[in-house]
Amino acid sequence: MSTIDYSDKIPNNVNLSEDRTLQRALEHWQPGFLDWWKDMGPDNSRNFDVYLRTAISVDPSGWAQFGYVKMPDYRWGIFLNPAEADRKIHFGDHQGEAAWQDVPGEHRANLRRIIVTQGDTEPASVEQQRHLGLTAPSLYDMRNLFQVNVEEGRHLWAMVYLLHRYFGRDGREEAEALLARRSGDADNPRILGAFNEKTPDWLSFFMFTYFTDRDGKFQVAALAESGFDRLARAAKFMLTEEAHHMFGGESGVSRVVQRTCDVMNQLKTDDPAKVRAAGAIDLPTIQRYLNFHFSVTIDLFGADQSSNAAIFYSSGLKGRFDEGKRTDDHKLHGSNYPVLDVVDGGLVEREVPMLNALNEVLRDDYIKDSIAGVNRWNRVIEKAGIPFRLKVPHKAFNRHIGTLAGLRVSPEGKVVSEAEWKAHENEWLPGAEARAFVASLMGRVVEPGKFAGWIAPPVMGINRQPIDFEYVRFN
Ligand SMILES: [Fe+2]
Ligand SMILES: [Fe+2]
Repeated sequence: MSTIDYSDKIPNNVNLSEDRTLQRALEHWQPGFLDWWKDMGPDNSRNFDVYLRTAISVDPSGWAQFGYVKMPDYRWGIFLNPAEADRKIHFGDHQGEAAWQDVPGEHRANLRRIIVTQGDTEPASVEQQRHLGLTAPSLYDMRNLFQVNVEEGRHLWAMVYLLHRYFGRDGREEAEALLARRSGDADNPRILGAFNEKTPDWLSFFMFTYFTDRDGKFQVAALAESGFDRLARAAKFMLTEEAHHMFGGESGVSRVVQRTCDVMNQLKTDDPAKVRAAGAIDLPTIQRYLNFHFSVTIDLFGADQSSNAAIFYSSGLKGRFDEGKRTDDHKLHGSNYPVLDVVDGGLVEREVPMLNALNEVLRDDYIKDSIAGVNRWNRVIEKAGIPFRLKVPHKAFNRHIGTLAGLRVSPEGKVVSEAEWKAHENEWLPGAEARAFVASLMGRVVEPGKFAGWIAPPVMGINRQPIDFEYVRFN
């Protein structure tokens, strides 16, 4: 596997120097990206030296090279996984045909939409997280935040490369628009709901990287199956980076839970007020944050029944998670799948054609995967001898997309009245009071090896460095 040439203006493994027009177009886009990073990237971090990993090649030994980098100098580039010889489309109506090395005219609009929607989430999350560096609970956590941020920037590059390379003028316009939208902006927001929410504190950040980056994993994994070979190869490399983002989220929440349990045991109490007074986050508040991030994130999979999802699949544009490992016919024409519906004010399952329910299929795969980590958090609580357990809420809880949108459902899955919802809303979701409490704990800790009082240290450092390593130098 060829090593990436970092002397190029845009590091890449796509032979950019052999396509002068494309190279010029991307070099033209690059200053706009850097301006966006300056405006919307991590707040007040320009002079920091951050211990980051950078890809120097896409093979397993080369993609994680560690060293101090000033973030504005991070080398964002275009990296694809190596091509598979004779790759075939392995699902949908084109099953068995050679994978496309170019974009088929009839799928152009849909592919563009898929790429733009994915691309839009990448800068959005950087925007959502931009103030968090100011309140990082340790240098270790600050470094992990910045690692996520630069890699989301690189994911944007991956999608912009596809837009410029394969979609002509439309693609260039879309690439500009990706730098123009802003998370949460009233006039020009990001495309998807969860990416317009705020990530105002570190508990939100850990929940976001656990739940919402995992949505990224499932979406990107479905794109890694695409019949459009370049998209599949770009997606595969993005997946290697996504794993670390979710690790940060899972271990982050786990450390918060650990600290809370330690405080509960020290004080021999399960009273949330006493836990809070001791500077830790009470377990019910952690559950409220979990409920919020889980429900907002499962909306990202889209409507439970979608003719677009059927078209994307049958056309070979977007597969299912782990498509290659499934043993059905990969066309799904006579198959059904259960979705939830509301009948007489109650939730019932109804079988619908699976092709139309592929958003629901991906959502259910996602839910299974999410629960595994929540169970690992529960093991921390169990080990501490505390009877409380965290749970993902019912799939119909707090939904804003699809059949269940706007329906009032408790975390246990019971349909409730508006009055009941109002009475319990602050118990089920983080209200102003819970958010204000969490916000009150946030404050930057900059001494190597020290951690804020609401979170336990990690088990290990990054890249086998000690926990008290100077992961960020402020200069
Ligand atoms: Fe990403
Ligand atoms: Fe991510």
